[in-house]
Amino acid sequence: MYKTNTCGELTITEVGQKVRLCGWIQKSRDLGGMTFIDLRDRYGITQLTFNMETNPTLCEQARTLGREYVIQVKGTVAERYNKNKNIPTGDIEIIVETVNVLNASKLPPFTIEDNTDGGDELRMQYRYLDIRRNAVKNNLLFRHKLSMEIRNYLSGQGFVEIETPFLISSTPEGARDFLVPSRMNEGKFYALPQSPQTFKQLLMIAGMDKYFQIVRCFRDEDLRADRQPEFTQVDCEMSFVTQEDVLQTFEGLYKTLFQKMKGISMEDFPRMTYNDAMKYYGCDKPDLRFGMPFVELNDLLQYRNFSLFNEAELIIGICAENCGNYTRKQLDALTDFVKRPQVGAGGLVYIVCNADGSFKSSVDKFYGQEDLQTVAERCNAKAGDLILILCGKTEQTQKAMNELRLEMGNRLGLRSSDLFKPLWVIDFPLLEWDEETQRFYAKHHPFTAPKPEDEYLLENNPAAVRANAYDLVINGVEVGGGSVRIYQREIQKKMFQVLGFSDEEAQKQFGFLMNAFEYGAPPHAGIAFGFDRMCAVFNGVDSIRDFIAFPKNNSGKDVMINAPSSVSKEQLKELNITVNE
Ligand code: AMO
Repeated sequence: MYKTNTCGELTITEVGQKVRLCGWIQKSRDLGGMTFIDLRDRYGITQLTFNMETNPTLCEQARTLGREYVIQVKGTVAERYNKNKNIPTGDIEIIVETVNVLNASKLPPFTIEDNTDGGDELRMQYRYLDIRRNAVKNNLLFRHKLSMEIRNYLSGQGFVEIETPFLISSTPEGARDFLVPSRMNEGKFYALPQSPQTFKQLLMIAGMDKYFQIVRCFRDEDLRADRQPEFTQVDCEMSFVTQEDVLQTFEGLYKTLFQKMKGISMEDFPRMTYNDAMKYYGCDKPDLRFGMPFVELNDLLQYRNFSLFNEAELIIGICAENCGNYTRKQLDALTDFVKRPQVGAGGLVYIVCNADGSFKSSVDKFYGQEDLQTVAERCNAKAGDLILILCGKTEQTQKAMNELRLEMGNRLGLRSSDLFKPLWVIDFPLLEWDEETQRFYAKHHPFTAPKPEDEYLLENNPAAVRANAYDLVINGVEVGGGSVRIYQREIQKKMFQVLGFSDEEAQKQFGFLMNAFEYGAPPHAGIAFGFDRMCAVFNGVDSIRDFIAFPKNNSGKDVMINAPSSVSKEQLKELNITVNE
């Protein structure tokens, strides 16, 4: 037997016991008469003690052992003289009798400590060493526990986990596919699934009325902190349900997870229509940890002498409470912020609500005190507040104000990582017009059903059709999205027509699904959650990479294994792929 105990469990109650431990040397301290080694494994750290007086040979041996050596020790648990209250094993130490070096280690390229000196790229290259650090290790343990709780809950609700294939065929909608050449079928390619969407619908037709799968998905899209080319979904589908059933079931899942993972009991989640989210927050995933909703000011500010406002499609303001004392410098910094290309506003107008009830604004030339007062009233601003106003084209202004609102939330410390504000965003539009290609795209995906009451609009006013499509947003992060599906062939066919597919193309790409609809497809609906994002959101972290054991960097590379990599000409030949020299 290599070990009797872990390095994280021995306490004062085990004093006197003979034990064997295995682990990595975190650090050693040589104090002349005594040598101490911190032995680390997944479970914690235990101090090993070597006494020069009682066992000089062993003590000498201990001094030769470097950081990250893997050792096995036999010894006796003893009470420590100098106790360490910071760790569970801090009351004891092991008086070592024998040391067995299981493997030596080179000096690691960065310190394996909570605060490491290793940069991102280096830690990615040696991810196996990075995972030895508490921060990364604990994230992976959290991920495991979260997946167990999800499986327990869903299984308890009668959901069945079913695996779907990874080698499927490429579809033109959605993000770019990762392709895999088929050796046995010359010139043909598989695609890795962007999600198991069509398979889970087929499972509904197959009668497996409650499906889930914690499943890897692949999307060849530009990467960001919350996007990886391969990521994991908690993918779910149910038959004979309405949107309401889906929202209730998965709100139940999240309430359970908040309870189990964070010890928080959540109230019922609020709901907001997509239109309201855009109107009040300028985005479809508002962060509701703080207020500052947009206030429309067109009617109050237009048609005076201020041409900037007069020419604007939209004028909106937000009220930053108690920011009336912002200095010129702070206001200039905000102006610079909104003018950044990523934010895209032309400039910033502000109104300071002075303590004495008067107003000072950057547009005093055009607006009198009374005008400013009506704006302040509309914005619910009180003395001491600051009103920030942007104007321009509707979408652009909403986008810029969304950025400014989030920036103000950050500056005012209103986006605390231990506050959780979930929100269902509902009633998404079914379609989205793309100027560049001059066609409609499905806002969610082409299998989303129009709201029955809007179906008649599909023919003449497709942009106005709403869908029973919903997203779950927590603290401004889209953690999941889903919809009620189309389950009749004719409606699916119509949908493909609206999306610009010819009947032949639709049949070629999605005939398998449309044909299946003709064999008794039940009404069904579902949702998928970004599992990596769930992990990050529950921990108040922006980057999902921290919760993935072996993530890709921002160029989609795994620098540890050097993927993607070139392959030999022979391999390519076998796949019938010719590459120009
Ligand atoms: P959707 O495309 O909205 O829906 O994806 C569902 C959720 O997956 C997460 N997600 C990602 N996470 C990390 N990296 C990525 N590149 C990435 N892309 C998406 C998000 C998102 O909310 N089949 C549908 C679901 C359905 O209709 O049931 C789908 O895939 O958190």
